[in-house]
Amino acid sequence: MQILKIQGGRRLVGQVKASGAKNAALPILAASLLTADDLVLHNVPDLTDVRTMLKLLEGMGVTVKRDGETVVLNAGRVVSTVAPYELVKTMRASILTLCPLVARFGHAEVSLPGGCAIGARPVDQHIKGLRLLGADVIIEHGYVKAKADRLEGAHLFTDMVTVTGTENLLMAAVLAKGTTVIENAAREPEVVDLIECLNAMGAKISGAGTSVLTIEGVDRLHGAEHSVIADRIEVGSFLIAGAMTQGDVLVTHCVPKQMEPILDKLREAGAQLDVGDDWIRVRMTGRPKSVNIRTAPHPGFPTDMQAQFMTLNCVAQGTGHVTETIFENRFMHVPELMRLGAQITIEGSTAIVTGVEGLTGAKIMATDLRASASLVIAALAAQGESTVDRIYHLDRGYESMESKLKALGAEITRENQ
Ligand code: EPZ
Repeated sequence: MQILKIQGGRRLVGQVKASGAKNAALPILAASLLTADDLVLHNVPDLTDVRTMLKLLEGMGVTVKRDGETVVLNAGRVVSTVAPYELVKTMRASILTLCPLVARFGHAEVSLPGGCAIGARPVDQHIKGLRLLGADVIIEHGYVKAKADRLEGAHLFTDMVTVTGTENLLMAAVLAKGTTVIENAAREPEVVDLIECLNAMGAKISGAGTSVLTIEGVDRLHGAEHSVIADRIEVGSFLIAGAMTQGDVLVTHCVPKQMEPILDKLREAGAQLDVGDDWIRVRMTGRPKSVNIRTAPHPGFPTDMQAQFMTLNCVAQGTGHVTETIFENRFMHVPELMRLGAQITIEGSTAIVTGVEGLTGAKIMATDLRASASLVIAALAAQGESTVDRIYHLDRGYESMESKLKALGAEITRENQ
């Protein structure tokens, strides 16, 4: 087991380059199954979850060649349409192979992901939509087993906004016969990035970024070259770290126009932001002001930034209310933050955070991906030494976070326990 050891209280100053977005890379890697030609992807982050997806695809017969941030995939000789439990249980986004496999090969057996730390995370909408597109789908021995001679276009409504649900159904519809409409579709930038990649592969999808997507099915998709968008959540996490340590941090290779909800809240908290086309500079002097957060589907405030803003509220002037509306159990960072001296009470889906002058270092434990980032950020701002345990959660979604933080002046080391 590895831990991060952090000496807090140092200002973060300097420049850091954003990596490609995990939540854009994962569906786009699965989209390689939709063609027999090469899919050439740039700016693919090197993360545990990405490595798991590549391993899953290779197990199906997809050839994978990685050269730095570029990955070339070819699904010309797929030998298996099974996504085994052993891999799916470590990375829920494996469910994103279900629909491309059915769309191109007419069958798939994908293990149900099972729950995760932040919630039950059912995939009923993925299955409901796939059935409406004409597939026979059964759940047997913990696997989703689907087959269809050829999917038929349909008019789909998802019961709630679901990011991977929208992405999965898009990848079913692109090769279906006829037209598909998806209403109540997710509008996240990562969904838009997948659509841009699919259209580059010859798909005919319109409505990207809106809640109504129209897909004209085609007979086959061809290869393409695509660059994955920057990770707005990683960027947001570094901006919060810069603000909390009274620092001066410039994040490059990012997409500010996709980050308005995050930047708006940072300004409300008193951060000074300078924004260019592909860069954002954050400066903060003195304590931040408390902000109220209510998570919502894009273009609302992203749930993946909830924990990081809760951390900012911990040392802010005033009391901030943080309401989580997307997942039922996404406050596991609260007891860990309280070990650092935070004052937080939870009432239902709202955490009430009373800001304190400062936090003090302690031993803390990561519980899920974004919570682990919020704990690292809190430890950077706390006086004294902290250790963060179970950082495999962090490695799932942040590419070499400690080396990026070290380059900004943080005193942080990874140690084997
Ligand atoms: C995606 O998860 C992201 N993961 C999550 O990021 C992110 O937090 C989430 O979207 C919300 O933005 C990837 O893109 C790989 P949902 P996803 O389907 O698609 C319920 C991270 O840290 N729901 O949009 O699984 C669900 O329980 C991760 O990078 C159903 O009930 O989330 C939740 O309450 C964490 N049935 C809500 O909808 C379904 O069939 C939104 O979930 C699907 C979803």
